[in-house]
Amino acid sequence: MMHNITIAIDGYSSTGKSTVAKRLAKALGYVYVDSGAMYRAVTFYAMQKGLISKTYFHEQQLIEHLDAININFKFNKDLGFAEVYLNGENIEKHIRTLDVSQFVSQVATVSEVREQLVLQQQHFGKHKGVVMDGRDIGTVVFPDAELKLFMTASAEKRAQRRYDELIERGDEVSFEDVLKNVQTRDHIDSTREDSPLTMAEDAIKVDNSNLNLDEQFEFIYTLAKAKIAEYNQ
Ligand code: DC
Repeated sequence: MMHNITIAIDGYSSTGKSTVAKRLAKALGYVYVDSGAMYRAVTFYAMQKGLISKTYFHEQQLIEHLDAININFKFNKDLGFAEVYLNGENIEKHIRTLDVSQFVSQVATVSEVREQLVLQQQHFGKHKGVVMDGRDIGTVVFPDAELKLFMTASAEKRAQRRYDELIERGDEVSFEDVLKNVQTRDHIDSTREDSPLTMAEDAIKVDNSNLNLDEQFEFIYTLAKAKIAEYNQ
């Protein structure tokens, strides 16, 4: 029997982590978990309850609400990936907006939020056979992951990709706002006190500024196959 490994994919926002992670999970028959979707779900909850806005963030109240926040993933066969549910409601379409993106980094600085989500992420990965993407997967969630990747690309490239996605969905956004959001999130994500975005010592850096999706996938898939073979020796 082949033993499964754990694959951690970290990196800056909009580096295409989720696209490659989903494809990799599918090719390997592994489960894909989007940890960013969980931080986004908590953020969406906070927005709905009026706990966060452009001018305030009731952090303590959000902490008190944490027990009432139930996040789950359900596989959608048509889409080929698992959608995120908040207290039983499919919120997949509500969590990728620029509004949620603008607040999520702040919510992700709260240690109590991180603690709760990390425990749940570890639970999802307890049988291995998981590809998880995020900011602290290789450093905090699965420090023993057999394969760790760290994805980077220039801020302009990343903003362009995110902008194209949002326009495609029909959102009215300006490139400048998207670029500003990418840069602000980079800054908050890498300077926060609790679990800042850093590359694990044993991670492999993948700069995809000049790689297309297929090239990137082939590179990572080859690494994964090699690790799995090594693990099963
Ligand atoms: O990957 P994403 O853009 O959907 O993530 C949204 C935000 O959530 C990101 O700005 C930082 C936070 N995040 C985190 O702090 N730790 C993770 N493991 C995943 C995401």
